[in-house]
Amino acid sequence: MSVAPEIDLRSDTVTHPTDAMRAAMAHAPLGDDVFGDDPTVLALEHRAATLLGKEAALLVPTGTMGNLVSLMAHVPRGGEIIAPAESHVFNDEAANYAVVVGAGMRPIPETPEGEMPVEAVLDAIQDASDPHCPVTSLVIIENCHAHTMSRAITPAYVGRLRSALPDGMPIHVDGARLFNAAVALGVPVSDLVRDADSATFCLSKGLAAPVGSVVVGSAEFIARARRARKLVGGGMRQAGVLAAAGLVALQDGQDGTVDRLAEDHALARILAQGLAEQPGIVSPGHLAQPSGDRLDPARATTNFVLFAVAGGPSRRTAYLAALRERGVGMVAYPHGQIRAVTHLGIGEREIERTLQASAEALADTA
Ligand SMILES: Cc1ncc(COP(=O)(O)O)c(C=O)c1O
Repeated sequence: MSVAPEIDLRSDTVTHPTDAMRAAMAHAPLGDDVFGDDPTVLALEHRAATLLGKEAALLVPTGTMGNLVSLMAHVPRGGEIIAPAESHVFNDEAANYAVVVGAGMRPIPETPEGEMPVEAVLDAIQDASDPHCPVTSLVIIENCHAHTMSRAITPAYVGRLRSALPDGMPIHVDGARLFNAAVALGVPVSDLVRDADSATFCLSKGLAAPVGSVVVGSAEFIARARRARKLVGGGMRQAGVLAAAGLVALQDGQDGTVDRLAEDHALARILAQGLAEQPGIVSPGHLAQPSGDRLDPARATTNFVLFAVAGGPSRRTAYLAALRERGVGMVAYPHGQIRAVTHLGIGEREIERTLQASAEALADTA
């Protein structure tokens, strides 16, 4: 049996529901959501649609399913989806766009800010009148963009993309950490999806609910996504038990978990600053920090810290194991990187202990 590390920086998905969430879950009024009469699910969907400025919303169990039902609702068989080359939808969702949707995906290299250059997106759009070509049917943005050290994509970029795209070409935002982006940029979350047709956000990551993601869009789009959710087996019954925790997360006031994301961001910066001072910690390279040899703490703007250790793959494995022996969990990340993620379960004390453990792990593995 594997046991979670005491200081668990592997992901923000490890967060447990708060006491307020557990109380709300215990007392939530319930119905049968497939019949459309679970009042707590309906309340959550209404709250999410209102917050994001869209007509309707749909509760799904996971971010992956949120993205999948959105693809199913937007893209025909034989369609093609334009997505960032390092995005989760392209790399980490088991090629569901091919297996389930029957579509292709055209990856476009993104900038260190997580943006696909608008010109490159326009170039990638296929000639719909040519029967050789797949039909370009959707453009995806990831916000926050994980591989850029989870940087927030600005509303201005989405606006530029929207005005450049041909009429009728939908934009979907994979907003697994959309509220982190809103808090980091200091904008209402609705601004981030104003120029998009649909979006998914996760309740189960930094917002600390145990399960659940929400898809938003027009009423007509959500009706298609609801059918797609049923098709992939995502129709849940007394799902109000889960929605109740999500409603607490999105609540104003101290029980809500949106505003507190700022604390996670501040602690990630402190962690990055401390790590940057340790000899042996180096730049993660790649999109997370394209220039410089030392880790630049200014790249940490939300709750991810991506970095590397000098000495290559075997040192990375040894360093992670040495951290783990000291009760600290981080994970290996693509392109030789290491990822640490701050969240509700991490405070200043845990960051101090992590920095101490890192110094010792570096000495052990030198
Ligand atoms: C950017 C991004 N999109 C989508 C997902 C999928 O979420 P889930 O694990 O709930 O399926 C994740 C999960 O980590 C993610 O980081």
